[in-house]
Amino acid sequence: MNNFQYYNPVRIVFGEGQIKQLSELVPTDARVLITYGGGSAQRTGTLDEVKNALSANGNREVFEFGGIEANPEFTTLLKAADMVNEHNIDFLLAVGGGSVIDGSKFVALISSLTEDGSTDGTVSREKAWDALTSYCKNIDSAIDLGAVLTIPATGSEMNSGGVINYSERHAKLPFGNPLAFPKFSILDPTKTLTLPERQVMNGVADAFVHVMEQYLTYPVNAKVQDAFSESLLKILIEEGKAVKADPENLETRKNIMWTATMALNGLIGTGVPQDWTTHMIGHELTSLHAIDHARTLTIVLPSVLRELKDSKKDKLLQYARNVWNITDTDLDDDTIIETAIVHTENFFRELGLPVSLEDAELDKSAIDPIIKQLEAHKMVKLGEHGKNDLDVSRRILERAVTSKA
Ligand code: NZQ
Ligand code: ZN
Repeated sequence: MNNFQYYNPVRIVFGEGQIKQLSELVPTDARVLITYGGGSAQRTGTLDEVKNALSANGNREVFEFGGIEANPEFTTLLKAADMVNEHNIDFLLAVGGGSVIDGSKFVALISSLTEDGSTDGTVSREKAWDALTSYCKNIDSAIDLGAVLTIPATGSEMNSGGVINYSERHAKLPFGNPLAFPKFSILDPTKTLTLPERQVMNGVADAFVHVMEQYLTYPVNAKVQDAFSESLLKILIEEGKAVKADPENLETRKNIMWTATMALNGLIGTGVPQDWTTHMIGHELTSLHAIDHARTLTIVLPSVLRELKDSKKDKLLQYARNVWNITDTDLDDDTIIETAIVHTENFFRELGLPVSLEDAELDKSAIDPIIKQLEAHKMVKLGEHGKNDLDVSRRILERAVTSKA
């Protein structure tokens, strides 16, 4: 196992009816900006529940900023940051999924980035862009943030990172800063019952690939991280199928919610190599073709595993054995690995997710623009060995054109 520091300060408040805890969790004299997405929080009544809880105790001033897109837009977030300055907001409360929480983290970090000498509190677009592309992790002050999670998927509720989309520039880029850890996140699994099936399945797949990106590299004898990862993968397989068959089952929803949080709260990624190749290629697919985040991952992951099967061999064999229970000793290594990858594809297919570019109505002409974008975004040394250059990414994408399964 490699050396590591593990730090995670997020208070998780889990369970049905826990939104009422906001009256204790948000400072009583706070000037709060509630941030939310395209309308689901209003339609489902969650926004009202949140506002009621905030008014239950204390003297808070509450403002609202709605309309944060799925794949949160840089320009929208600048407007939210302006609102923070205009109303002297000192607490951001994100109500939604990864997009709203990521977007709110970014707002928390950039709100102080006004032009020198500016008196109108307008956040500088250039400074915010520079923050996203280079110095975000060095920002040393941020507004406090809390979250009410409505879709289990990204783990954003318990980590300090996010991903921002700037469609004008065809860029979807990650950022991170320890100040972006939410102070708390409320996880009420009943809130997930209103999700369309597509979003439920996206969430299961995103969490699955998060585990894979931290697990499927090479062994460093990290028994805790490996065993946790394998358990999370098995739970996602079991509960992904269960939620498809019986979407109203709250026990299933609870397990999916906590699993998705555990998949990307830093725990399984400590002390082990990581490989975010699938995500980095996936981000380009979203920014060029507006494909849902999780769906880009299910398209790319099987080809990443096939292309890199030699350098990932030991872990692929472990994955086959411990997650898919492929234990036939007569099979050669290549067959075991290919069988595990096909099982993975079949699982994604069972959830209604694409596993090839063709499944997303793209063909090989999509590859060149993706490679150009990877180059423009300096994604040229991906993988646990930093060896996945643009040629490797091209071969991964060529494999992804048509599925084998
Ligand atoms: O916008 P509204 O109307 O709220 O609708 C949303 C949105 O359309 C809807 N929704 C959310 N909760 C609902 C609901 N509909 C009905 N009932 C509910 N309870 O679901 C749609 C998707 O929401 P979104 O927040 O975009 O989904 P998700 O949580 O999957 O977040 C995806 C974003 O997170 C980033 C992705 O790149 C993408 O931008 N990621 C963030 C990560 C992180 N912070 O660590 C890691 C991930 O790898 C990922 O990259
Ligand atoms: Zn993801």
